[in-house]
Amino acid sequence: MIISVPKEIKNNEYRVAIVPAGVSEFISNGHEVLIEKGAGLGSSISDEEYINAGAQIVDRNELFQKGEMIYKVKEFLPEEFKYLREGLVIFTYIHSNAFKAQTDAFIENKVVGISYEDIEDENGGFPLLKPMSEIAGKGGFLMAIQYAQRLHKGKGLMLAKVHGVRTPEVTIIGAGIAGFGAAEIAVYLGNKVAILDIDLDRLEKVKHVLPPNVELLYSNKENLTECLKRTDVLVNCILWPKWRKDSMITRDMLKLMKPDSLIVDVSCDEGGAIETCRATSHDDPVYIEEGIMHYCVDNVPAAFPQTSTYSLCNSTLPYALRIANEGYEKALKEDKYFRKGLCFYFGDLTLEETGKKQNRPYKTPEEVLNIT
Ligand SMILES: NC(=O)c1ccc[n+]([C@@H]2O[C@H](COP(=O)([O-])OP(=O)(O)OC[C@H]3O[C@@H](n4cnc5c(N)ncnc54)[C@H](O)[C@@H]3O)[C@@H](O)[C@H]2O)c1
Repeated sequence: MIISVPKEIKNNEYRVAIVPAGVSEFISNGHEVLIEKGAGLGSSISDEEYINAGAQIVDRNELFQKGEMIYKVKEFLPEEFKYLREGLVIFTYIHSNAFKAQTDAFIENKVVGISYEDIEDENGGFPLLKPMSEIAGKGGFLMAIQYAQRLHKGKGLMLAKVHGVRTPEVTIIGAGIAGFGAAEIAVYLGNKVAILDIDLDRLEKVKHVLPPNVELLYSNKENLTECLKRTDVLVNCILWPKWRKDSMITRDMLKLMKPDSLIVDVSCDEGGAIETCRATSHDDPVYIEEGIMHYCVDNVPAAFPQTSTYSLCNSTLPYALRIANEGYEKALKEDKYFRKGLCFYFGDLTLEETGKKQNRPYKTPEEVLNIT
């Protein structure tokens, strides 16, 4: 198979889908790897390193024309739609529910789209979301540290314990991978941290690994309201079901928060848990609603490309290799967890959540793959 790895063109996106060790794996399995010139530079990987591993460096047009599988990091942007064609395999974070124009383009051009974020494991977890979630949670809290500073129009609060001074309060909603990542940094800097989740088992697990002074609360309106009143920083790390049309923190509830407090929405779902969230970019990351600064960058890991690129490739490579070695059809047919990632198949949308959210017709992956 010819695997093509483009340079990402999203705002301040410095990650790349593959590292040189990944190229070597494809080559030793008998495949060809094309990499767009300079694609790795944002992650400090030179073209020479890729060439030494066996890849060919090509320009953008050749890359998309020859590639049988496009292996990338982020969704397709409108400038990239012209490269789509029937049967082209796309393996990346697609987020079809968030990007309607991309969904139209994928359906119209009859691509086979497999999204990292929808692939599941036997425990109902999301193995290709995990590595970036940890980095987004930790990175999200590092951004809170930055935007709490007066220099960045914050209230001028140092998010750390300083003797003789009130300790800052941090509320984290969602104790999953991202929430735990954010908590690790917030807690170890000495902040007073409360974590809310509806999954009591998850809270119990967290109890055993974080210091005893971390408050672990069941996520309900009463506990949330109390936290909103006292918190300096709210970090949202809930995986909000894509079909839900309500919000957990409404615009009105922001009035409960202290003036100048900060929301970091790692989950970044428009129409998600926080009504006032709208996705922002690293170029223009924050905005104010009801006096509260919101940080809602939807590609936080891009700020840490060296860490993120290696972490992402570690997780995606085994799946990309399966697509190349077995063919997507066999790999998807034989593995029901991998199959969850199939979102587009020759003109059909195959992700229920996006169908429901965007009021579009959809089929199941089993229907389109003729699995009885
Ligand atoms: N901004 C970015 O760059 C970026 C990067 C990676 C992931 N993310 C997003 O981060 C979010 C979290 O990902 P994750 O891997 O940590 O998910 P996860 O499934 O590990 O954790 C989500 C947690 O939210 C909890 N939850 C669900 N409903 C809740 C409620 N009403 N109140 C409190 N908690 C609730 C769940 O029980 C779970 O523990 C996802 O939306 C993901 O898309 C964003």
